[in-house]
Amino acid sequence: MEVQGVAYRSIWAIEEGKRVGIIDQTRLPHEFVEVELTAMNDAAIAIRDMWVRGAPLIGATAAYGMALAMSEDTSNDSLDHAYETLYATRPTAVNLRWALDDMKMLLQPAMQEDRVAIAWQRAREICDEDAEANRQLGAHGLRLIEEIAAKKPAGEPVNILTHCNAGWLATVDWGTATSAIYQAHNKGIKVHVWVDETRPRNQGAHLTAWELGEHGVPHTLIVDNVGGHLMQHGLVDLCIVGTDRTTASGDVCNKIGTYLKALAAHDNGVPFYVALPSSTIDWTIHDGIKEIPIEQRCGDEVAFITGQNAAGVVENVRICPQSTPVANYAFDVTPAKYVNGLMTERGVCAASAEGLASLFPERVMVPQP
Ligand code: MRU
Repeated sequence: MEVQGVAYRSIWAIEEGKRVGIIDQTRLPHEFVEVELTAMNDAAIAIRDMWVRGAPLIGATAAYGMALAMSEDTSNDSLDHAYETLYATRPTAVNLRWALDDMKMLLQPAMQEDRVAIAWQRAREICDEDAEANRQLGAHGLRLIEEIAAKKPAGEPVNILTHCNAGWLATVDWGTATSAIYQAHNKGIKVHVWVDETRPRNQGAHLTAWELGEHGVPHTLIVDNVGGHLMQHGLVDLCIVGTDRTTASGDVCNKIGTYLKALAAHDNGVPFYVALPSSTIDWTIHDGIKEIPIEQRCGDEVAFITGQNAAGVVENVRICPQSTPVANYAFDVTPAKYVNGLMTERGVCAASAEGLASLFPERVMVPQP
């Protein structure tokens, strides 16, 4: 997508075999800073400290982390060490494990002298595949937006609510939740996006608002608790969110607060869709509430808030008494029954084992006797 009219991806090889470029997302929206990763450890830090974030981008960065590790040392020890170091960075987004397994499966049987070339090529492919999957899932979601637009009074936009940042910054390109929105906007369909600020880290305010603004998509920032009120007053036509891990039966784990939006949507008859490339499906689990590890992050993310002061200086300020105990759960699980559909690269399906099996029959696991 574009930044100041220049086409960008969220991650790119600056020099194959040596250097990878990313955008430091902790600095947005106030500063646009590109960072170079030159070692596996740089990639691990970038994921852990959330310079890059969002399930698909975490996977893509981990793939390049493995490639950087091979450029440093092609031994089996190096491969195992890179896998373990990168795997330990963040627990919830399953794309991390998916990308690491993919890379390891390819690299382990390869001759050491071939590993660097194989690793960099596969990392590049993983990025290209993610961008293409997101474009495709957005094309399927676009039809849904077109159907809603056709029923709206002439000139009125389709109002779409989204949570957190499931935009191009969370992926390699297009975004998941935003892909259909960008494609509708590009096609001249009037859309307007309600952007949840998404405490504690405010990925909605910092990232989604920024990238929609860069692309010229009309949007309005709201605090996290407004969604229910808007839905009660007919001001939301559709919710589209992303996901960090979706089970084989359609339970959706996403940024904390998603579940409450799904409940409000259900109560008000507002369609609630989840957009995801298939790399975000964890085919090994069925019960999202019991089986998905929910990341708990440092309490400072809740106790402090970052923003720009009147003088233009970015500051981090405390919003509660120094002694206040704080809990920081980063994700929650929305049971499949509250999800109207899953937008994937192969089409839109019901959020259920049957729905997913209809699109991905090769992934259905037959229980062993
Ligand atoms: O903690 P983050 O920023 O890595 O969380 C990821 C997200 O932004 C969301 O949960 C998103 O909706 C899913 S990733 C496409």
